[in-house]
Amino acid sequence: MLKHTGTKYLQTHRLALRPFRAEDAESCVRNWAADPDIYRHISQQVRTPQDVSQWLSTAEQAYTSLETYYWAITEATCGDVIGEIFVDDFSNRNRWCELDWKIGKAYWGNGYAAEAATVVIRYLLDEVGFHRVQAKCSVDNSASERVMQKVGMTKEGILRDYFLAKDHRWRDVVLYSLLSSHPASPQ
Ligand SMILES: CC(C)(COP(=O)(O)OP(=O)(O)OC[C@H]1O[C@@H](n2cnc3c(N)ncnc32)[C@H](O)[C@@H]1OP(=O)(O)O)[C@@H](O)C(=O)NCCC(=O)NCCS
Repeated sequence: MLKHTGTKYLQTHRLALRPFRAEDAESCVRNWAADPDIYRHISQQVRTPQDVSQWLSTAEQAYTSLETYYWAITEATCGDVIGEIFVDDFSNRNRWCELDWKIGKAYWGNGYAAEAATVVIRYLLDEVGFHRVQAKCSVDNSASERVMQKVGMTKEGILRDYFLAKDHRWRDVVLYSLLSSHPASPQ
């Protein structure tokens, strides 16, 4: 049985993960949300500063649901929002969820995505009660696939022509997952 607990504050060695706030607009835009390079391998469109402000103004309402799992990734020392990590989709019945992540370009290659994903996965498995956490990305997105490997996910296969990329070509997607070591319990 899942026990939804929402976007709880999570801390790692170098990062603090917390709900987004309206005042995060400036650092989101400066660090990642409006950078076209962030969206190269994904179907989402680049966000304008207006998109970011509008989206953040609705965040407070979204967080009233304990089924919202959407963290701002902040550097613990300076408090800047350097990225995001969120549950994109989930199944109550089957207790799986899917994670998505972004980190600002200036911060790539420092292990931040893997560090954030590790603490979020532990939270989703141990506290919320998901049995399976999955992630997928375009086969071209080697950095994201590497994050999946670094957090201990297992490659399950390739979904052929799974999404239509911005160049209007179909792309294969690679699927990874990690299973809880907890035994299944009755619904
Ligand atoms: C995917 C992303 C979140 C990774 O963030 P990050 O903080 O740099 O990730 P980490 O540092 O934890 O790990 C990245 C790994 O990929 C490797 N990597 C980076 N670019 C790579 C490339 N082009 N080919 C192969 N490996 C690559 C890094 O060397 C690192 O592995 P290592 O620690 O073994 O050296 C970041 O690149 C990003 O935001 N990309 C754009 C958004 C996106 O595509 N999100 C995924 C949606 S599915």
